[in-house]
Amino acid sequence: MSMAKTVRITQFGGPEVLQIVDLLVGEPGPGEIRIRHRACGLNFIDVYQRTGLYPNPLPLALGMEGAGIVEAVGEGVTHLKAGDRAAYASSPPGAYSQARVMPARSVCRLPVGIDFETGAAMMLKGLTVQYLLKKTLPVEGLQPGDHVLFHAAAGGVGLIACQWAKALGLQLIGTAGSDAKCRLALEHGAVHAINYATEDFVARVKDITGGKGVKVVYDSVGKDTWEGSLNCLRPFGLMASFGNASGPVPPFAPAILGAKGSLYVTRGTLFTHIATRESTQAMADDLFAVVGSGKVKIRIDQRYPLAEVAQAHRDLEARKTTGCSVLLPGDD
Ligand SMILES: NC(=O)c1ccc[n+]([C@@H]2O[C@H](COP(=O)([O-])OP(=O)(O)OC[C@H]3O[C@@H](n4cnc5c(N)ncnc54)[C@H](OP(=O)(O)O)[C@@H]3O)[C@@H](O)[C@H]2O)c1
Repeated sequence: MSMAKTVRITQFGGPEVLQIVDLLVGEPGPGEIRIRHRACGLNFIDVYQRTGLYPNPLPLALGMEGAGIVEAVGEGVTHLKAGDRAAYASSPPGAYSQARVMPARSVCRLPVGIDFETGAAMMLKGLTVQYLLKKTLPVEGLQPGDHVLFHAAAGGVGLIACQWAKALGLQLIGTAGSDAKCRLALEHGAVHAINYATEDFVARVKDITGGKGVKVVYDSVGKDTWEGSLNCLRPFGLMASFGNASGPVPPFAPAILGAKGSLYVTRGTLFTHIATRESTQAMADDLFAVVGSGKVKIRIDQRYPLAEVAQAHRDLEARKTTGCSVLLPGDD
């Protein structure tokens, strides 16, 4: 038993509801481990959970991504042992902490050569890109040379997607909210970058694709880009909605999909894809391989002590961040 500083909320709201409390961390039960975090990942889903857009019972410890050292394993856990370096993307939340007990199922051993900060930054975001580019595909599939549209391309998920798409031979058209962010997307493998704060992204996509449109749009922005994204698709194209950074997509009439060219819509979440130990490890192995090859580099542009978690949330929501952000829990 030991005490661990943990970020918790007792009500939904703005960054001011984030509290740092000392919680008792006990022994892992069957199927669980206790991990001491060296770094924790910051993700937009943490904002949705803090505001209550994605409701969870209160009080709620936040954070879905972390890396550190396994301190103890519970009965039945065979893929990890005390002393292992490990990282995870996982529900339930609770990663914003010095240490926690959690289900072992989604925790993976971190390969030698991947440090803790990188591990904490890449699991939730990298596994998301894995399921998007490899498993969230239009009916005709994706072939090298195909154009895809990826919104918020200079963010945490976005910069990983730019690089991984390039490694797969895809022509990723990225959008971002400033010229500097557009440059970053281009430097990481996007073939075109559109500043959607100043440019009409639908017109630009039509122009780039010779009027055809793209086979798939990966849209995590939600409300503000929904309609335009549908208009960027070619017939039978796939709208892959996977986030709500600008707010949730309002209800829509399915008939609109017919009128726009027999389109498909899906709304994926990583947590369906990592529901089992086997699927989690297979996806993580793919991620570790592409990071190990150097084709995808995990860019950490912001680091915050755990005590500055409210500032980290403010920066993320104000669109001030690029690439990944990590929280550093420290030892005391
Ligand atoms: N469904 C899933 O499985 C899954 C898993 C992981 C992440 N996600 C989603 O993927 C997205 C990216 O996640 P992330 O953690 O890597 O965050 P991020 O991309 O680093 O940050 C979000 C970005 O969204 C853009 N954005 C557009 N409109 C916005 C608005 N009104 N307010 C704030 N930001 C806005 C901003 O980029 P610009 O300034 O360039 O517009 C901002 O930097 C999030 O929507 C997240 O929920 C979904």
